[in-house]
Amino acid sequence: MQQVKAVIARAKGQPVELVTINVPDPGPGEALVQVQACGVCHTDLHYREGGINDDFPFLLGHEAAGVVEAVGPDVTGIAPGDFVILNWRAVCGECRACKRGDLQYCFNTHNATQKMTLADGPDAGTELSPALGIGAFAEKTLVAAGQCTKVDPSARAAAVGLLGCGVMAGIGAAINTGGVTRGRSVAVIGCGGVGVAAIAGSALAGASPIIAVDISAKKLEAAKRLGATHTVDSSQVDAIEEIKRICAETYDGADGADVVIEAVGRPETWKQAFYARDLAGTVVLVGVPTPDMKVPDLPLIDVFGRGGSLKSSWYGDCLPDRDFPMLVDLYQQGRLDLDAFVTEEIGIDDIEAAFDKMHDGDVLRSVVIL
Ligand code: APR
Ligand code: ZN
Ligand code: ZN
Repeated sequence: MQQVKAVIARAKGQPVELVTINVPDPGPGEALVQVQACGVCHTDLHYREGGINDDFPFLLGHEAAGVVEAVGPDVTGIAPGDFVILNWRAVCGECRACKRGDLQYCFNTHNATQKMTLADGPDAGTELSPALGIGAFAEKTLVAAGQCTKVDPSARAAAVGLLGCGVMAGIGAAINTGGVTRGRSVAVIGCGGVGVAAIAGSALAGASPIIAVDISAKKLEAAKRLGATHTVDSSQVDAIEEIKRICAETYDGADGADVVIEAVGRPETWKQAFYARDLAGTVVLVGVPTPDMKVPDLPLIDVFGRGGSLKSSWYGDCLPDRDFPMLVDLYQQGRLDLDAFVTEEIGIDDIEAAFDKMHDGDVLRSVVIL
């Protein structure tokens, strides 16, 4: 066992705290990872606010890259010294989804078996709940070996670690879920980290036009840098009409985009996506709605009559061992600008400040360097 510094959310709505935690030596199926960089994601804030569940205290952080320090006795495939991105989809290979070949829907993804615990104070020994089974706002963390995906060790940790969650969700929403490719038009509604990643993924796949829609001009600038060919400020103009107009300019007879990606997670923007797609097009919902949200007044005849498919995308339908090394290689070749997602590098003490900055529109990702 080792003691390391880590950031936890002790109780609902309370500011995060820097504490010392106990990290067990890796047992069977586990790996101990020295974290080098970890992005600050909305999901960490949702955990802190009690929006995910009540299993406080949480060990936050889950968009990380680092170096394997030790592995459990039976672990093959990764070894001490390997540079890895942590993932929250270590597929089991044995559940019904895995057996029928839908690994991205695995019902039994793996996490570390042993628990990390608080080291000091009156509640020393309390077990921690790692965010998304990772917990990487820590100098070291214990995960399932399958949560470590080996990638090119010369890549910048702060940039490629972001593939561990939000950036993969966006790229995968376009490429894996939406089937975006050359010759297809794409519109992305909501240009935060996830939406902009969907734009970068669409650009990588060769789609055109790629239309970025947001209510914030600043976000639209970032979208342009990552490959949007057109931008639509939907606080000023009707997003559906604009998307249809732009697509018709490129493709004769087009009546909307082939793929519309909703990266906000709200009924009104999902409905815009629904009506902005061309006949037989695809809507991908990657934004996460809250349980109370409903889509009002959607005539069933429009669902039937417009054909196509209405999909949701969890973690970009990614398979980490297939997708991370490939995307890191594209990054290393200069074809995928992951650096553009890293707005600032911060210390482990600056996470509360990073939460505050999330909503001001200037930050795609703050990344903690450990
Ligand atoms: N129309 C268009 N864009 C909107 C609207 C709207 N009505 N409301 C908000 N937006 C934009 C915001 O301006 C912002 O740029 O949506 C974007 C949301 O971005 P972030 O808050 O940075 O969130 P992000 O990390 O990109 O995640 C987006 O995906 O994974 C989920 O939980 C996550 O639901 C969230 C979504
Ligand atoms: Zn499975
Ligand atoms: Zn995340």
